[in-house]
Amino acid sequence: MGFMLAAAGSAVGLGNIWKFPYMAGEMGGSAFVLTYLICMFVIGLPILVAEWLIGRRGQKNPIHTMEDVAKAEGRSKNWRWVGIIGVLGSFLILSFYSVIGGWATDYIVIAAKGSFVGMNGNGTSQLFENFLGSVSHLFIWHTVFMFATAFIVALGVGAGLERSCKIMMPGLGLLLIGLVVYAALVSGPAFEQAFKFLFTPNWSAITGKAVLAALGHAFFSLSLGMGIMMAYGSYLGKDVNLISTARTVVILDVIVAILSGMAIFPLVFANGLQPGEGAGLIFVTLPIAFGNMAGGTILGVLFFIFLTFAALTSSISLLEPTVELLEEKTRLSRVSATVVSSVVIWALGIACLLSFNEWKQVTLFGKNIFDLLDYLTSKLMLPLTGLGTIVFAGWMMNQQLIREELHLGPALFALWKFLCRIVIPIAVVAIMIYGFMPQK
Ligand code: TRP
Repeated sequence: MGFMLAAAGSAVGLGNIWKFPYMAGEMGGSAFVLTYLICMFVIGLPILVAEWLIGRRGQKNPIHTMEDVAKAEGRSKNWRWVGIIGVLGSFLILSFYSVIGGWATDYIVIAAKGSFVGMNGNGTSQLFENFLGSVSHLFIWHTVFMFATAFIVALGVGAGLERSCKIMMPGLGLLLIGLVVYAALVSGPAFEQAFKFLFTPNWSAITGKAVLAALGHAFFSLSLGMGIMMAYGSYLGKDVNLISTARTVVILDVIVAILSGMAIFPLVFANGLQPGEGAGLIFVTLPIAFGNMAGGTILGVLFFIFLTFAALTSSISLLEPTVELLEEKTRLSRVSATVVSSVVIWALGIACLLSFNEWKQVTLFGKNIFDLLDYLTSKLMLPLTGLGTIVFAGWMMNQQLIREELHLGPALFALWKFLCRIVIPIAVVAIMIYGFMPQK
């Protein structure tokens, strides 16, 4: 149970509520959503199982786990690179994750002031734009969020936070359901339009870019490829059924994302906003609902509190690998290791935060700092390390032992091997090539 909470706490976060809808909006809706769903179950789920499997054998941080398990299987030590890239990636992700976590936290205060009352789409867009323009604001809340993350990791009180999430997570789920129902009741035809936008297959609209984005997002959303789930695997008892646990986590994660999309897109269409609005999408849509419903101020405050908690349970999982590594490789204590890594991540976060205003024009390869960090991690590092993990599990590890560990019958075992050895590696490589090809 504790493990489930930690794993689900890491998986469910800003990725589901903030990132999924805005990416779906930017990538044209259903083509992205349906590919994402396929990626979650066909690629994400087996990799999640593989990470736990490897983590449970290794019992260490991702780098040493990969090294030890590779050695035990008689393979090259170089497999540790999967772990190394993983730790580096979690570090990079946290730098922008903390900035967005800061937005969510600040929106608690903004909601509490009653700022949304009576607002339409123009109002909330303006509000958000002013918000983005205020560097000092963004700076303060990024700092607050990063400090909270560091505080929890330094004191090792993640378990306490997860316990409070037993209340927060269901609360978030209920509120999201409430928002979907509200959208269905008040937005009339826009609700149907949103449904069509998200789910009616439109394969002709599919692009390499959208498929790669969907794959990357499946990894992001399940916290895969950064050794985090691997590290969690080391806490797993021998008797835990990996496949059913993974299935539960994937389903939960998908449900939260879909609910979030169904709450947001009716508002987009009913208020004449753009689906491709970008990273601010939830911050300009949901406030319209909170501003116009009975009890909206309280519900808005609650929503952003729940969102902040969901973000914190993910951000601590992002900080943990770097801290553990420093603790092990240097003489730093846990507290000092946390301080050192947080300060570096925080500083990088500032660069990322400035890319929403002062440094908007500062670009590399045509991308600003935020986009670049997101691109580098979600589209490159996560798929690569995921690929490494699954090739390792499928080709380098003793399959008979895995079969016993996963309690697989003959048919499922054949499926497992087919997926890990052939389908997933080919799919990931093909999607990456397709995604990086010049687009029409
Ligand atoms: N999965 C989290 C979310 O959806 C983010 C996250 C936490 C993450 N740990 C991760 C993403 C590791 C990639 C790798 O918000």
